[in-house]
Amino acid sequence: MALRLGDIAPDFTAETTAGTINFHEWLGNSWGMIFSHPADFTPVCTTELGRTAQLKDEFAKRGVKVIAVSVDPLDSHTEWVKDINETQNTTVDFPMIADKDRQVAELYDMIHPNASEKATVRSVFIIGPDKKIKLTLTYPASTGRNFTEILRVIDSLQLTANYQVATPADWTEGQDVIVVPAVSTEDAIKKFPKGVTIVKPYLRTTPQPNK
Ligand code: BEZ
Repeated sequence: MALRLGDIAPDFTAETTAGTINFHEWLGNSWGMIFSHPADFTPVCTTELGRTAQLKDEFAKRGVKVIAVSVDPLDSHTEWVKDINETQNTTVDFPMIADKDRQVAELYDMIHPNASEKATVRSVFIIGPDKKIKLTLTYPASTGRNFTEILRVIDSLQLTANYQVATPADWTEGQDVIVVPAVSTEDAIKKFPKGVTIVKPYLRTTPQPNK
């Protein structure tokens, strides 16, 4: 069955380029991103994994552990990482799961048979410290993901988790945010000392609280 927001991210133990990993243990109390790619030694995947490696500090700053998955074997991942490092001018040091028996792909419904019988699509799952799924994204093999958008969503998710605010359309870091409907205007005024603008009783904005 498809995984939904709020579900516990399925646990597993798998071989990776960083040794055997038990997923929940490896996550610990961190946020996590597990993302799949169709196959090793393919062009779009090479740029995506390289981009993820280049953004290492951005993921670390947000306390997000990153792990990649495809149904290729470990020796293939290891060889391919050399190409990624060389061509994308980076160092991949996040683990890549060698999911040759499709254990993880099936747990996370990453194989969409009408797209490909064998390969994983480009799935992204962002997981909170409570191990619950906070975001899912599914892209076709031919479209490389926008990792700036993935970081933006993580920022939004973390603002909601920490401050009870939501983010408006096209929000980017530093712009005003929205007080969630569960917080009364009276409480919002106490909670957000930078001020609350009441555009409508249901649309209240405040400066980004952690800026
Ligand atoms: C790629 O990663 O470049 C790719 C993989 C499968 C289909 C199309 C592109």
